[in-house]
Amino acid sequence: MTRKTVRIAMNGVTGRMGYRQHLLRSILALREQGGLDLGDGTLLWPEPVLVGRREHALRAMAERHGIGEWSTDLSAVLADESVDIYFDAQVTSARESALKQAIAAGKHLYTEKPTATGVDGALELARLARAAGVKNGVVQDKIFLPGLVKLKRLIDGGFFGEILSVRGEFGYWVFEGDWQEAQRPSWNYRAEDGGGIVVDMFPHWEYVLHELFGRVTTVSAHVATHVPQRWDEEGKPYPATADDSAYGIFQLEGGAVAQINSSWAVRVNRDELVEFQVDGTHGSAVAGLRNCRVQHRSATPKPVWNPDLPVTESFRDQWQEVPDNAVFDNGFKAQWELFLRHVVLDESYTWDLLAGARGVQLAELGLKSSAEGRRYDVPELTL
Ligand SMILES: NC(=O)c1ccc[n+]([C@@H]2O[C@H](COP(=O)([O-])OP(=O)(O)OC[C@H]3O[C@@H](n4cnc5c(N)ncnc54)[C@H](O)[C@@H]3O)[C@@H](O)[C@H]2O)c1
Repeated sequence: MTRKTVRIAMNGVTGRMGYRQHLLRSILALREQGGLDLGDGTLLWPEPVLVGRREHALRAMAERHGIGEWSTDLSAVLADESVDIYFDAQVTSARESALKQAIAAGKHLYTEKPTATGVDGALELARLARAAGVKNGVVQDKIFLPGLVKLKRLIDGGFFGEILSVRGEFGYWVFEGDWQEAQRPSWNYRAEDGGGIVVDMFPHWEYVLHELFGRVTTVSAHVATHVPQRWDEEGKPYPATADDSAYGIFQLEGGAVAQINSSWAVRVNRDELVEFQVDGTHGSAVAGLRNCRVQHRSATPKPVWNPDLPVTESFRDQWQEVPDNAVFDNGFKAQWELFLRHVVLDESYTWDLLAGARGVQLAELGLKSSAEGRRYDVPELTL
């Protein structure tokens, strides 16, 4: 086998997502498995170059994982002709300018979402990348999750008949940070630093709904900051200026309606941290991150409303588990593999900066909808 090295500048790898999902679970996992077999006698070997602001943190990480290169100088890394791809998992507010720099340097781009802080900036990035002829990809990991892969399989197999509605419930309690440490970074709760649950989660809901059920055509949302004060990484109190909860209704092309609650101020009484219930004329399903349960119309009970009597049946037990029927890899790694194949083999890849811009658009319109108390059409974006 011939080995093809692809050098990837990875910026923001000291962060939660950059480190755990992208470096450890994706790029280093690919190296541990011996590289990515391209199926044509070539083995793609990803070579990370760690980029960040804190020298000591990068050095320690590079040593811990036997990574040869790291730098605090993004411009110098981008000027290096041997670097093929620029990857960005920085805080959202730092992304747009770094991506522009990488496009100007002629690098292919792979980036976390949201791609920019506004739809104009997100579209500009997509246009610049196209004009520069660089390949580009945006992380849209949720559709690679086993639960949603199984849900897609049900849709493709015609299980639902006509899909009527989708109800999503996402969230968990994020500690305020005073008496127990918060489990998410404090910038997530400051609008001025690119925080907020709408800009974080609506980009995910856009591609999940679009890919599985149809493009989002209208949005109406109500957002709230239920927890007004939090404590940061240093234990200092700060006002939460960003929304921590969003209640959204989305109309979809094809006629179905989706309603998704997203909240960092809710306690979990579900099987998984996110669950989508899909109801169709012929059957229903509840899909989470890993599992998916179904109820066919032939097995649907006929409850009768009577508050005077206790419930006599266990509704949850009347659902059937959808089998895996496949081995599921980490979703972030699976998407990295497709992007690397796109870069090297020119295979098609749909999750690009234009797709990323749709997510930013939905977040922007969702916030506007809430601020103005009205429903917004979501115009189709083109380059
Ligand atoms: N795909 C997903 O499911 C998913 C989940 C969570 C977060 N994200 C996205 O990933 C990105 C990073 O989120 P995270 O939760 O890993 O954040 P984090 O705070 O843990 O990490 C942020 C990274 O950005 C770096 N950084 C660069 N400039 C900075 C600045 N001015 N201030 C603070 N840090 C700065 C930090 O050093 C760190 O490496 C965000 O854009 C977020 O939207 C995606």
